[in-house]
Amino acid sequence: MTPKGPRRPPADPARQVAYEVLRAVTADDAYANLLLPRLLREREVSGRDAALATELAFGTLRHRATYDAVLARCVDRALDAVDAEVLDLLRLGCHQLLATRVPPHAAVATTVDLARTTVGPGRAGFVNAVLRRVATQDRAAWLAEVATLDDPLDALAVRHSHPRWVVSAFRDALGGDLAETEALLVADNTPPPVTLVARPGRCTLDELAAAGATPGRWSAWAARWPAGDPARVPAVQQGRAGVQDEGSQLVAIATAAVPVSGTDARWLDLCAGPGGKAALLAGLGRDRGARVTAVELQPHRADLVRATAGDTVDVVVADGTDARFGTGEYDRVLVDAPCTGLGALRRRPDSRWRRSVADVGRLGRLQRDLLASGVAAARPGGVVAYVTCSPHLAETAAVVADVLRRRTDVELVDARPFLPGVPQLGEGPTVQLWPHRHDTDAMFLALFRRKGPLIHPYGASGTQ
Ligand SMILES: C[S@@+](CC[C@H](N)C(=O)[O-])C[C@H]1O[C@@H](n2cnc3c(N)ncnc32)[C@H](O)[C@@H]1O
Repeated sequence: MTPKGPRRPPADPARQVAYEVLRAVTADDAYANLLLPRLLREREVSGRDAALATELAFGTLRHRATYDAVLARCVDRALDAVDAEVLDLLRLGCHQLLATRVPPHAAVATTVDLARTTVGPGRAGFVNAVLRRVATQDRAAWLAEVATLDDPLDALAVRHSHPRWVVSAFRDALGGDLAETEALLVADNTPPPVTLVARPGRCTLDELAAAGATPGRWSAWAARWPAGDPARVPAVQQGRAGVQDEGSQLVAIATAAVPVSGTDARWLDLCAGPGGKAALLAGLGRDRGARVTAVELQPHRADLVRATAGDTVDVVVADGTDARFGTGEYDRVLVDAPCTGLGALRRRPDSRWRRSVADVGRLGRLQRDLLASGVAAARPGGVVAYVTCSPHLAETAAVVADVLRRRTDVELVDARPFLPGVPQLGEGPTVQLWPHRHDTDAMFLALFRRKGPLIHPYGASGTQ
């Protein structure tokens, strides 16, 4: 179901838009973070209504599992026997009742009104009856009822609305610490700050500050955008600045900072779309005379790299595992591999429901192939950065361990010194950033150096 513009403006545009986003995600597998801004623009919903629509759509999607556990206690049949449209209305009502300051009578009445116009008066009566049952208790009382389970992972999964397999993977990546796992789940349910990057050589932090941004936390190129649409900042419109999480900035900065001996002119980004890291690398390399080749498999994502980085990078539409890149000639290689994205759940409210354990296995093969290709592309003495936006150990530590087991021509470099000033980076040599510790996406970074014969500038050869 792709929503179309209504002929007449609805009485309650915020709830109408939120409901349409929920329907499109449930029925069409739409991406909420792409669809919502488009609908708001098309319907000319702005200001407080836009903020309310965003809170209702994203909040309902984030907390879906908690609301389904509550609804299961209030509906006299199995939830999967409830029509999908009605279930989305019930979830929307639950979110208003249990997580917003909308007064309970208004939360029920507005949802029932919406039900009347979308699913008809008969089913609106059912929505009314169920939401009145939900309204008999507050959130804390409901959680005490539905999220006090024998298995602590089940309890966390219901309380903080994450799939259980994701909670389990986070617990493993955090060394089994359940309290810290819970802090991460809470951070995933908290809307993140909007972070801008001032692309080096094209924009400055002073220019972003003059437009209203405040300093970032860790990256020397980051600024925070306080509120409103950052696309109205001229530097963002012109591509000289962009929206980029600080974790993404930090891993690109570290990739550019780790020392290489010899030449430092040919940089390769093997998985470049949509181009945020390629553009930052290009800016960091420019003063050193380095040029970035940005490889991307999908033509439409390669177009995004061109839009983001302009002519500061050379874009190649190709499979990064192609043997043509394995010539060992690049000084720096970034492999920002396709991954489950479990590190960016706070920015993509619906993505936790889209992923499955099967994705981890499927992506693991591609991650290993791309990293092997990245290593083959690096010259002896050159560096390879392996990056994921997921903390799942199968996508991080297991991939790193595999490459070290299979190849004798790479060694790990301690990545921590290349994120100066960032605390709580663990034991090294790899780095895992976390939303609850660093207020960044959960980016993982491993830095490798390619060993092997090194041609010295004065003609002697040796190994590094
Ligand atoms: C995690 S995203 C990269 C994000 C990007 N580095 C940035 O900062 O904007 C991974 C990208 O790899 C691309 N990709 C997937 N398989 C690939 C392959 N075999 N070769 C090259 N790119 C691939 C995907 O289309 C996706 O755009």
